[in-house]
Amino acid sequence: MKYSLTLAVLLATAMAVPAALAQGPGVALYKSKCEMCHGPDGKAATPMAKMMQVPSFEASGVKKKTDAALFDAIENGKGKMPAYKGKLNSKQIKDLVAYIRVLDKK
Ligand code: HEC
Repeated sequence: MKYSLTLAVLLATAMAVPAALAQGPGVALYKSKCEMCHGPDGKAATPMAKMMQVPSFEASGVKKKTDAALFDAIENGKGKMPAYKGKLNSKQIKDLVAYIRVLDKK
């Protein structure tokens, strides 16, 4: 009885972390500002993405890049990727980097 309670608490804690990220503030921002180019799953399979030749996050090698590098790409833009400096604050950009990490794991 005692053990199963501990297990339940452990499981709940383990599951709470990704769930909190998935529902974090980055989601709404991503949906409104990034999804049209990067797609809901980051795979860039939208018509807009095809037209603009947006690579998937996987193809961009986002996994191997540091948070600082992704932050910089969002803040200052990169190639056809627009810069969000002045449009998003650093907290918002950090939330987006966190959400991209979640997407890229799926
Ligand atoms: C107009 C289309 C467009 C929109 C909107 C857009 N992106 Fe991009 N994004 C791109 C393109 C194109 C690239 C590929 C840039 C390159 O590698 O030349 C890219 C690349 C990236 C990368 C990878 C950077 C790297 O270092 O390789 C990240 C991270 C990213 N975008 C995040 C975002 C976020 C977050 C938003 C929303 C705030 C966003 N993008 C909105 C088109 C877009």
